[in-house]
Amino acid sequence: MKRVLKLLGALVALAVVAAAATLLWAWKVTDEALARRHASPSIDIAQEVRSAPIDAGERIVRVRNGCPDCHGKDLGGARVVDDPVVGKVYAPNLTPAGLGKWSDAEIAAAIRTGLRPDGKPLVIMPAHEYQHLARDDLAALIAYLRSVPAVERSTPPVEVGPLPRLLYALGKFPTLLPAETIDPSRGFDEKPHEAPTAAFGRYLASASCSGCHGSEFRGGPIPGAPPDWAASAPIRLGADGRWNLDGFVRTMREGRSALDGHALRAPMPVSVYRKMNDVELAALWNFLSTLR
Ligand code: HEC
Ligand code: HEC
Repeated sequence: MKRVLKLLGALVALAVVAAAATLLWAWKVTDEALARRHASPSIDIAQEVRSAPIDAGERIVRVRNGCPDCHGKDLGGARVVDDPVVGKVYAPNLTPAGLGKWSDAEIAAAIRTGLRPDGKPLVIMPAHEYQHLARDDLAALIAYLRSVPAVERSTPPVEVGPLPRLLYALGKFPTLLPAETIDPSRGFDEKPHEAPTAAFGRYLASASCSGCHGSEFRGGPIPGAPPDWAASAPIRLGADGRWNLDGFVRTMREGRSALDGHALRAPMPVSVYRKMNDVELAALWNFLSTLR
């Protein structure tokens, strides 16, 4: 009996040591990645920002891309998660009180490539989605950020917790640092005419839906998500004969799946997409319904 207990004790001790070593390794891997400086592109966009339509920028920020979901309704910065396992992630102040000293090129690089002005990668800022924004839309977005009232609020620096570090180190959470998934020299996507066409729908879906639903829109668990987040559904709507335009529009506007009536769970940004207009929804439908 004693010998069995001793053996068990030794096994438990071994497991603890192994777990601690794994965590240490994951810590080192992520610390190195967080400190790595990448070559940040210089994006010559200041001139376009000066003449860009601010109302178009507001639509991109508030309806199409849901920046307030993380950065707060007033864009003055907000908590994304604060949890001992996941970490402390606050999205910083995007109003002139926060970005006043940033150049248009630096803001553009943060949004398009996920890099700070010093070349270090931003944590979970979904640049892998926003890299698809066309030049004019990015300019309008920045013009809008410059126009909003300054909000005096600061957010604490990001601290990445053990779970995302472990997932990142194991290669299961590449979008912890979206910059690492983006080619910074990639050219801008073309902006199709804003009309109820599949081309405009593809553009919207790439810049707004791909981060959660995947670049192929096949759905699945959202990498690195807290455990209470639902997996994203497949939205290759042509693959399921039960979808039609009306059902899709109702799903987006009412936040209930037209397939089975369940209320769509977080993090599907229901309250944001409710404000999508008929052209945006018809365009999305005309694209997503071609995917089988
Ligand atoms: C999923 C949450 C999330 C969404 C949605 C999001 N961001 Fe962020 N963003 C962050 C986080 C977190 C940081 C800070 C990361 C860090 O410090 O490493 C950040 C940083 C930034 C920065 C750098 C600012 C600074 O002071 O470091 C800019 C600029 C920015 N975001 C713009 C945007 C814009 C514009 C949108 C919408 C098009 C947007 N973000 C949507 C989470 C988000
Ligand atoms: C922040 C993550 C996120 C983003 C961004 C997002 N979704 Fe979702 N979406 C989800 C999740 C999670 C679900 C599953 C929710 C559930 O089943 O309760 C979902 C479900 C859906 C459904 C319901 C599918 C069904 O089978 O009933 C549709 C339709 C949908 N999303 C369309 C879109 C479109 C179109 C966009 C872009 C304009 C988009 N989503 C952007 C996370 C997201």
